[in-house]
Amino acid sequence: MTRRHAWPTTVRAMLAAVRSAAVLGIDAYDVLVEVHVAKGLPIWTIVGLPAGAVKESRERVSAALANSGFAVPHKRVTINLAPADQKKEGTAFDLPIALGFLAATGQLDPETLTSIVAIGELGLDGTLRPVRGTLSVARRLADSRDRPRVASNGVTLVLPPPNVLEASLVSRLQLSAPLTLAAIVEQLQAGRLDAPGKGVNDPAKASVHETVDLADVVGQDVAKRALEIAAAGAHALLMIGPPGAGKTMLARRLPTILPELTEEEALEVVAIHFVAGLLAPNAAMSVARPFRAPHHTLSAAGLIGGGSNPRPGEVSLAHHGVLFLDELQEIPRHVLDALRQPLEDGRIVIARAASAVSFPAQFTLVGAMNPCPCGRAGDPRGGCNCAASEIAHHQSRLSGPLADRIDMQVRLSAVPVRDLGRREGGESSAAVRARVECARARQRARYRGVPRVRCNAHAAGRWLDTRTSIDEDARDLLASAADRCGLSARAYHRVLKVARTIADLDDSAAVAWTHVAEALRYRPMISRDGEEPAAIEPTRLHQLPLSN
Ligand SMILES: Nc1ncnc2c1ncn2[C@@H]1O[C@H](COP(=O)(O)OP(=O)(O)OP(=O)(O)O)[C@@H](O)[C@H]1O
Ligand SMILES: [Mg+2]
Repeated sequence: MTRRHAWPTTVRAMLAAVRSAAVLGIDAYDVLVEVHVAKGLPIWTIVGLPAGAVKESRERVSAALANSGFAVPHKRVTINLAPADQKKEGTAFDLPIALGFLAATGQLDPETLTSIVAIGELGLDGTLRPVRGTLSVARRLADSRDRPRVASNGVTLVLPPPNVLEASLVSRLQLSAPLTLAAIVEQLQAGRLDAPGKGVNDPAKASVHETVDLADVVGQDVAKRALEIAAAGAHALLMIGPPGAGKTMLARRLPTILPELTEEEALEVVAIHFVAGLLAPNAAMSVARPFRAPHHTLSAAGLIGGGSNPRPGEVSLAHHGVLFLDELQEIPRHVLDALRQPLEDGRIVIARAASAVSFPAQFTLVGAMNPCPCGRAGDPRGGCNCAASEIAHHQSRLSGPLADRIDMQVRLSAVPVRDLGRREGGESSAAVRARVECARARQRARYRGVPRVRCNAHAAGRWLDTRTSIDEDARDLLASAADRCGLSARAYHRVLKVARTIADLDDSAAVAWTHVAEALRYRPMISRDGEEPAAIEPTRLHQLPLSN
């Protein structure tokens, strides 16, 4: 016996409704596809803010119906996509429109449609073709308030076969993936929806095969330590050094010292990549953290996302992973400035006339740049011929507000070539990752129940200031650094966050003087009266004049 669903199905003989879904950002929402067939001029009208591809649906659907052997009577067909005030994109409504049409014209029992949610594009011959955002639809169905009903009442997601693997990343969903429109109608009428073939419903989890390791990098102990702290607390890190110092090499090894994604994080990451159309429908789910290294010619829209039907940008594709901006000084300032919102909020909101789309964007930023146009400024071996004004201009490319949001800065010099072959690389990525995982576990316990905060870098400065224990002399050091180095309130809190991460790596409940002292060394270098910029040296702070 088929139980009645809460959603309306048939009101009168000429009207039918089918449940479907659409994707906004990376989240899906329910769409009810209503089809009304009446006497009149044989015109198909789609209402409910359909975009171009949705409007073309009528051509695809009527051809698919005819080629699948169904009658397409010359009648007036009105299709409404509810909610009607939300713009609809894509081709996923082909299948629900076709099924609704068949029910409204008496070729399919409307009762059979009560227990399905349908998405899929139709080829003119009636085959089902893949659509974007299936994972988001599956997550929505599994998360929706009627979860018990989904499980107990047997609501089945009917979708194109190529999207099965994607949907089955969400467990406990009933799926059916017929090859053609005719096949689904036959199964609905027979009262049995075939589950996808064996093996198809078993998503592969890609194993992480790392080919690079931190031990490949010779020397650069300060930069490696900074990388470890950045990994532990998700801090933004800028590496400045001459060409060939190993900046790119180090940044590429950051994902190898990060913990694997949790299942929930991995789902979120693949959902973004599917929506962006970057994953083949049969792609395996990876537990490796994303590493995005866009070229420096990328646009602001490429970085933060955009388009009339907004697609995620690099900041979202790097969600839960690493965004590496090499040759930072080459990136136009207005593009860099677009990073400020995601760095602050962990998400990006793209406003459009009809709606605002929001994408998650919680990533660890790693930047690399040369200190001057020739790259050799500050090199102990000399050789830099750049004028002071050129160096100043080069460094000013990084605007104040963005520089303020970069928690840590390190300077590297090149390791002498003769040392490269001779010296050992040091600790392996696995050894460092073990420490990072411990530090992250401490942070998880600290931020349990705090929304969207996983790591120290995401915490509100004031929250940390008042909720974490800080030794008295550590506080004094922070205060005198603020007074004498002119730290802004934001910079002050950033030092505190980095210090908190160093304390977490140290497995220390309180932030101690040494933790603050080390954190201060990663503050952006301060340059006085044309001198070489130098890191803040905690033991010499008292010799500095008070800044006004
Ligand atoms: N510390 C190091 N240990 C091992 N190899 C190194 C090291 N530093 C540099 N190399 C070698 O030099 C090459 C260049 O390094 P890398 O590309 O990381 O430099 P970079 O700092 O990014 O330079 P650029 O400013 O030109 O981008 C590496 O591929 C590696 O072979
Ligand atoms: Mg490089």
